Amino acid sequence: MIPATDPKVGYKVLVRKAYDSCAAAYAESRMAEPGNEIRGLSDRLNDGDAVLDIGCGAGVPIAKSLAARYRVTGVDVSPEMIRRAQQNVPAGNFKCADIMSTQLPPSSFDAVIAFYAIFHIPREEHPDLFRRVYRWLKPGGYLLCTLSHYSEEGYTEDDFFGVTMYWSNFSLGEYREILTEAGFVLVESKSTGSGYENAALETSENHPLVLARKQ
Ligand SMILES: C[S@@+](CC[C@H](N)C(=O)[O-])C[C@H]1O[C@@H](n2cnc3c(N)ncnc32)[C@H](O)[C@@H]1O
Repeated sequence: MIPATDPKVGYKVLVRKAYDSCAAAYAESRMAEPGNEIRGLSDRLNDGDAVLDIGCGAGVPIAKSLAARYRVTGVDVSPEMIRRAQQNVPAGNFKCADIMSTQLPPSSFDAVIAFYAIFHIPREEHPDLFRRVYRWLKPGGYLLCTLSHYSEEGYTEDDFFGVTMYWSNFSLGEYREILTEAGFVLVESKSTGSGYENAALETSENHPLVLARKQ
């Protein structure tokens, strides 16, 4: 774990290029997953609802399983991930962009999801991200996202699917406050493995899966 404090490194650019490089290996690892992470949300949605997937990656397994019942919009900063998502989920509507500079119509989604993506955005931007998500949701709409248990300033690791990757996040307690300040009501919080169902019980691969609702 190396502190991400080098002023010469653009860490958002690093994330985009890193996912372009490791897209094939990462997507293959996710291909094998059942996508059970969305269970708690699908009980609450109706067929045909509009769902935004932030950091959708290659669209597997999440966007693909969502697209069977819902209208899916996926946003991802990596062109290679978006190319794969378009192939894997032809029914989806995909856009290559940084979610922090993406313009979407207010009150236009029944649900917004973000799996294993928010921690790749510098954490200083997270309060603004949740305010943006709140605006994009319809009243009563849901946010389902993986967050983090512990507070960690930006850092990189060199061994993420063969590339150097960046993460930064707040603790679950801090996220509860940030979400509440943005206007969300917390519905439930569970734990999930970091995309790898069998690892859900291993603390190093364990993330809170938070369901929140726009009032
Ligand atoms: C660990 S992958 C998760 C992909 C997918 N959600 C899944 O469950 O497998 C994280 C994804 O977030 C995307 N991402 C990172 N920062 C982003 C940003 N600022 N805006 C949009 N996408 C971003 C990456 O390109 C990558 O595809």
